[in-house]
Amino acid sequence: MQTRNYILIGPMGAGKSTIGRLLAKELALPFKDSDKEIEERTGASIPLIFDVEGEAGFRDREQAVIAELCGQQGLVLATGGGAVLRAENRQAMRQGAVVIYLHASVEHQLARTARDRNRPLLQTENPEQVLTALLALRDPLYREIATLIIETDTRPPRMVVQEIMQFL
Ligand code: S3P
Repeated sequence: MQTRNYILIGPMGAGKSTIGRLLAKELALPFKDSDKEIEERTGASIPLIFDVEGEAGFRDREQAVIAELCGQQGLVLATGGGAVLRAENRQAMRQGAVVIYLHASVEHQLARTARDRNRPLLQTENPEQVLTALLALRDPLYREIATLIIETDTRPPRMVVQEIMQFL
């Protein structure tokens, strides 16, 4: 029997990687993270890729990785917050997978990303403004492809995983 994929989407700081790793353990499936995959393949950090190739270059690499991983079976996949921007990615992610939108308020996203230098889009004077604008643009896209929407503001990762498991 083929096992479906479980794909985590949502903004930076929603906990996609932490929750993805825990969910993979619970389901006894391998865990992949699209950003880590890009870094491993290029041997470069996400900020360096943004510096050298711009956001468009990064998005091309992200699209290639997502297409490849969504073509496999039985993975838990955490995606970057902007992966839903491209229609090709949304289509690939929707195909035969459970797509879980981890929702987080801007306040919580900010608290969880405050000291992180690894997110080029947040290296600005006003990350709160950036996160607010990104969420306004992306929230409808997350909702468009989500099978499940889970609130992460009020629950620790283990509880989020238990909640996801109840729906599966
Ligand atoms: C991005 C989110 C990041 C990473 C890149 C761009 C975004 O991933 O893909 O910095 O556009 O929201 P996380 O959501 O895992 O932080």
